[in-house]
Amino acid sequence: MRRPPSISQTTPDFAPPEGHADACILAALRVAGQSGASGADLAKQLKVSRAAIWARIEDLRRAGYDIVASPHHGYVLRSTPEALHADDILSRLDQPRIVAREVQVFQETSSTNEIVDRLARDGVPEGVVVFAESQTAGRGRLGRRWYSPPGRGLWFSILLRPPLRPQAATQLTVLSAVAVARGIERETGLQPEIKWPNDIVFGARKCGGILLELGAELDHIRHVVLGIGIDVNVVPEEFPAELRHVATSLNEQAGRKLDRTALAVAILRELDAAYTRLRRGDFHEVSDEWVRRCTTLGKGVRIQMGERVIIGTAEALDEEGALLVRTIHGRLERIIGGDVTLEKGPMPLTTAQP
Ligand code: BTN
Repeated sequence: MRRPPSISQTTPDFAPPEGHADACILAALRVAGQSGASGADLAKQLKVSRAAIWARIEDLRRAGYDIVASPHHGYVLRSTPEALHADDILSRLDQPRIVAREVQVFQETSSTNEIVDRLARDGVPEGVVVFAESQTAGRGRLGRRWYSPPGRGLWFSILLRPPLRPQAATQLTVLSAVAVARGIERETGLQPEIKWPNDIVFGARKCGGILLELGAELDHIRHVVLGIGIDVNVVPEEFPAELRHVATSLNEQAGRKLDRTALAVAILRELDAAYTRLRRGDFHEVSDEWVRRCTTLGKGVRIQMGERVIIGTAEALDEEGALLVRTIHGRLERIIGGDVTLEKGPMPLTTAQP
């Protein structure tokens, strides 16, 4: 039986997607490379008819996959489209995994965090990832808007149900920043830095951010929505005027257009590896890397937390991922959130009373 193309959704649909035949076909074509995969082999592998394989291949072609068919080589995958497709992402991930157990792609949505939050409340198990090609109400930390133009970035959210107390949620912030930085480095060769808590930066300019939203009881986390936004192929002139001097994109840093699907896959792999470490109780392995990549430690910081402002030097990260700041009055403060502005060097202590 033919089913409509499932590789990209335009309207929210929370029903569990049926089998991922397209992901299996794309994975098989990738393994076969230029040697090609015959329709008969694919049909056997997927336990469907050759006609059904042909129909799926036609749908993939319509979605922009350049698949050639030859009597000698069978089907050969020559190129993939620029747009994100759930089955393409799934076809490139390893098993077993928690993160990206299920992937959905929307053409447009208000905010992927909003969609994943709804899935969480509906009791969906952890690991589902929702991408959107564009967001009409993308949200950032501290109630800010997140600019999410169509087809230019990676805007996605992940549902997690970690066995943590709410106070330890900062571990996820640290974990996700490390995984995003690693994924970017692996796929592009660029070396992004992390600004506490989880900004992905090149020098003073930001190319990615992470928004963690919690559903929690007093003593345990029910679910976490981990929203990640990365400016991949945004060109500098496209940023709204107010962002132009503080934002950058991977495209600008690398000097070339980047493959968003490959980058998404690299980041999801790193997120899965880091989350598995955290679940095993090996958070220290992740935080060690965070310390190596973080530009905040040793620097003077000004942290705005609502009405309160803390000025001091960022000294360390504690075992729950909080930032330890030596204030200019000599006190050690444990910071779990807020708006951080960095100074060039450490802050001198003052003798004045706090
Ligand atoms: C920040 O302020 O640095 C965090 C930005 C997080 C943006 C991402 S884009 C995907 C997800 N959906 C949202 O509405 N926000 C996050």
